[in-house]
Amino acid sequence: MNEEESSKLKRLIQAYEDDFIGVDQISLLACLKEIQAEYGLIPQEAIDLMSQQLKTSPAILKGLILRSPSLRTETKVHTITLCNGERCSNRGAAAFIQSVEKALDCRVGSQTKDGRFELKTQRCLHRCEFGINVNIDATEHTKMDLEKLLLAIKNIKDH
Ligand code: FES
Repeated sequence: MNEEESSKLKRLIQAYEDDFIGVDQISLLACLKEIQAEYGLIPQEAIDLMSQQLKTSPAILKGLILRSPSLRTETKVHTITLCNGERCSNRGAAAFIQSVEKALDCRVGSQTKDGRFELKTQRCLHRCEFGINVNIDATEHTKMDLEKLLLAIKNIKDH
């Protein structure tokens, strides 16, 4: 998005600025619909700007978008699946999962605040001998620790 488009987007969102907009889902939806009508989809930049200007969170906006079949974004939500099967648990999966939740400030079953990752657990990822195992989308990661996982997440964010 160039500078002119970015300014136009800011003005569009400004029209919705109000002390209570952050908790008013009808107005947030109206703003998202207007953005999509203008751009054909909801760019990540619009989600970032809306959360700043309208004092809400990207996760709330992503939740609204997910619940509105007519709305779509350009950003895929990446799924991080942490194994909590028996053999990975014997290698410390429970403590690993807790440290991941803390590091990402996100509980299993929900999305990170920027709406880019969701955390899930699965009873076995079928690579038990290489645990602790994690899948990020369809990519398998074996012998994981927090440092390796945070690096994998950073690589996704950087690309
Ligand atoms: S228990 Fe983790 S991969 Fe099987």
